[in-house]
Amino acid sequence: MNNIFENNPDNILKAAAVIKNGGLVAFPTETVYGLGANVYNAQAVASIFAAKQRPHFDPLISHIAEVDFLKEYAATDERVFALAKRFWPGPLTFVLKRIDENPSIDLACSGLRTLTVRMPRHPIALELIRQSGVPIVAPSANKYQSISPTTAQHVADGLGDKVDMILDGGACKVGVESTIIDLTGKRIVMLRAGGTAKEELEDFLGEKILLSEGNPTLPTAPGQLLRHYAPRNVLRINVTAPEKDEYFIGFGKIDGHLNLSPRGDLQEAAGNLFAYLRLADSKAPRGKIAVAPIPLDGLGLAINDRLKRASYK
Ligand code: TXA
Ligand code: MG
Repeated sequence: MNNIFENNPDNILKAAAVIKNGGLVAFPTETVYGLGANVYNAQAVASIFAAKQRPHFDPLISHIAEVDFLKEYAATDERVFALAKRFWPGPLTFVLKRIDENPSIDLACSGLRTLTVRMPRHPIALELIRQSGVPIVAPSANKYQSISPTTAQHVADGLGDKVDMILDGGACKVGVESTIIDLTGKRIVMLRAGGTAKEELEDFLGEKILLSEGNPTLPTAPGQLLRHYAPRNVLRINVTAPEKDEYFIGFGKIDGHLNLSPRGDLQEAAGNLFAYLRLADSKAPRGKIAVAPIPLDGLGLAINDRLKRASYK
């Protein structure tokens, strides 16, 4: 079955109808492809968890196209709106206190009293949300704990006919998921490193933000599970001299079978990361992959985070 649809206005309308009728649509964002459903339709939201084989204690991100949506559902303040104004649309997700009593979104929030929300910077995603007329909840469109999808074909490979429609928007530009910050307290806590660099946030805010390592046995952000984003093969990280039988992914001057970015550009490396992990998975001769060291600044924090979890045994 081929459920990949090319990007045109008709197909976006069709996809919006699927969302309204309680179906699942995979769509491109600037970070990774999302598996989307109508936030208000508990059946549809439940089918996301089923398709991904994801546990229900793992809350979903609501994707919105208008900032005004926040006022109805979440405790907002100047800090929230200032961050939204500067970083949205873009790869930054807020965890906010819920103020609504609307039980239909309980499942999307996994019963927590927080709402997790972002405005994606991708014209197809924004148009789909507008045409659907509702916020779209969407985790990454892959099986639980496996490598996130950055092309429509990756989605089809992983989820097949569990999704009604896959909108094709080409390869995702950012390539790693959004940065998640918890704005429910006085100090801002980063729950997941991602496509918005920590330094950029700190420069804007004029203060340091805390990094949460999370509690891996009781995840508040299961992106913080020790094993996540995982290839099938064994993965070693921070490798400068690979073993002969390892499929080697290089970076910068350290070259390998593949190189995340020969010129040492972290944005380029983030964009290639998940696709190269998939490629390595299919090519590694003895089931062994090794990856060169990646610097920790800028998007490097997110890349190292994904690699650490992918390498966890
Ligand atoms: O870039 C992205 O964020 C992509 C695209 C599709 O938007 N989405 C994405 O969703 O990565 P997902 O579900 O794969 O990862 C969301 C993470 C999960 O680890 C989840 O546990 C965490 O966000 N999360 C969601 N709501 C939360 C909350 N209220 N408190 C703490 N963590 C939360
Ligand atoms: Mg995910």
